[in-house]
Amino acid sequence: MKVESILQCPSCETSLKIRNQGFFCDKCDRQYSKRAGLYDFLLSGEDQWARVGKGFMNGQEEMERRLLETPLEELSPSDRLIRAVALWFKGDFEEYEKIAKESLKGVYTDEYNDAMKKSFDNTVDLVRQEEGIVLDLATGMGGLLQKLLSSTERDFISVDISPTSSLSLLQYLRFRNWDNRVVQLIADAAHLPLRDKSIDVITTAVGFQNMQDAEPVFKEIRRVSRKLVALCIFMDKGDTNLAFVKDKSLHVADLFKKELEKVGWSASLENTLRACVEPTPQSEILGIRPDRIPVVPTVFEFTTVVAE
Ligand SMILES: C[S@@+](CC[C@H](N)C(=O)[O-])C[C@H]1O[C@@H](n2cnc3c(N)ncnc32)[C@H](O)[C@@H]1O
Repeated sequence: MKVESILQCPSCETSLKIRNQGFFCDKCDRQYSKRAGLYDFLLSGEDQWARVGKGFMNGQEEMERRLLETPLEELSPSDRLIRAVALWFKGDFEEYEKIAKESLKGVYTDEYNDAMKKSFDNTVDLVRQEEGIVLDLATGMGGLLQKLLSSTERDFISVDISPTSSLSLLQYLRFRNWDNRVVQLIADAAHLPLRDKSIDVITTAVGFQNMQDAEPVFKEIRRVSRKLVALCIFMDKGDTNLAFVKDKSLHVADLFKKELEKVGWSASLENTLRACVEPTPQSEILGIRPDRIPVVPTVFEFTTVVAE
């Protein structure tokens, strides 16, 4: 897929010129370059690029060695999951694929894993019915993108704010021979380097629940896209766990819908599934929990939000 014709400056929204194998904005005098094979459209991403190459554990070699070298059966459930993630970030995709699926058991409740799988399938079914250019937002390790690539023959645009995960994703896509079907952009969802209504569908899986503020992102995706198909995980309005999020609109279904409608979207919630969930268990090696929330047991609502 050629994206050059739909790109624009993410800062001042004017057209870009091709220069020095990258893109140049005459108006704000910015150069957007290809770094390590990916187009970097971040407006302030130097701190994130500084982390690239330091490994998944950001230089904590002893812990990384324990995580990767301890026999799998001796690792706690969370350490198995973290090992799978570490293998992905190291580019050891064969080993990653051997343990990834199994490592979810013991960390998440059966209800959670079941609802997540069904929600992914529902979201993929909805996206398969769409025509035109599809952009997967906040692709991360590419859970949704992989399913879209394996169940369709189309090309995709992928956007994520993290250079580290974008680079590992590029390697993973090469490993699966999918790299020629995905154009990856490193960009902030609130400042997309894309022209007005240049995208037919923006899709995302649990992308919004990892962002900080709803309004700037909802406005920006409204400017860029005709439609939105988003797998979301919501909580009830009175949930104690909401004390640990910044913008409740990204975590409560009717607030999410209202916030979308405030900026011009018309939204519906589809295929809602409720699942009892527990805080993810603590890693014995790293001392952290894989997920920040829930902090106390609760019920998550898995929903696909469709907006036009
Ligand atoms: C949980 S992951 C999403 C999972 C992924 N969609 C999947 O299908 O497996 C969350 C991702 O959101 C990305 N992210 C967070 N804030 C963002 C933003 N403002 N713009 C773009 N990506 C963002 C993070 O870098 C991370 O990779």
